[in-house]
Amino acid sequence: MSAPKILVLAGSARKDSVNKKLAANAADIARARGAQVTHIDLTDYEAPLYHGDDEAENGLPDSMKAMRKLLAEHDAMIVATPEYNGNIPPLLVNTFDWISRPDGEDRSNPFAGKLAILMAASPGGLGGVRVIPRLRAFLTDLGMMPLPGHASVPGAFQAFDADGRLTNDRSRGQIEGLVDTLIKFLDRA
Ligand SMILES: Cc1cc2nc3c(=O)[nH]c(=O)nc-3n(C[C@H](O)[C@H](O)[C@H](O)COP(=O)(O)O)c2cc1C
Repeated sequence: MSAPKILVLAGSARKDSVNKKLAANAADIARARGAQVTHIDLTDYEAPLYHGDDEAENGLPDSMKAMRKLLAEHDAMIVATPEYNGNIPPLLVNTFDWISRPDGEDRSNPFAGKLAILMAASPGGLGGVRVIPRLRAFLTDLGMMPLPGHASVPGAFQAFDADGRLTNDRSRGQIEGLVDTLIKFLDRA
């Protein structure tokens, strides 16, 4: 059986993003369990704010065409995201909105039937958990199947060492448990 293909990304473009660090830790854990991991930085997939007239005139930006294709080639997605006022950050909403649109004749849904793991990091004490049910609902409406549960990293400015490794054992355990479940499901699929 070939290794499951997992796309990993963070919902922040910030250079020192704690969610980028969280995504990198999740990618390492998934790799260590034999998955074929593609870890991307959304900074490399910039797109203008979605506008229907822009889409009607120009179609999808090349970055979003590439992102759409990339997701379609994977079995699952791991998302590490900040919460902005308890909600999904505009970077993720904009990216997922764009790639939910048809690319010319290609009307396929790149999200359909893919599994997802959700995680959040925040410098605050709740670890950004308020975004999780909102992201779960959004991805479900897009056709994905987010796994139950989540990982969160509270106090995230202190939770990574100088090499970016997650030092919070509780959060690390949550990621490992989610990745193990994901791979079990993908092996059966
Ligand atoms: C507009 C805005 C709203 C925010 N709202 C929340 C919030 O609701 N809860 C929270 O824990 N942190 C909130 N924060 C703080 C973020 O958790 C913090 O900026 C974090 O570092 C962002 O993640 P990143 O490091 O991955 O970019 C907010 C930040 C911004 C810019």
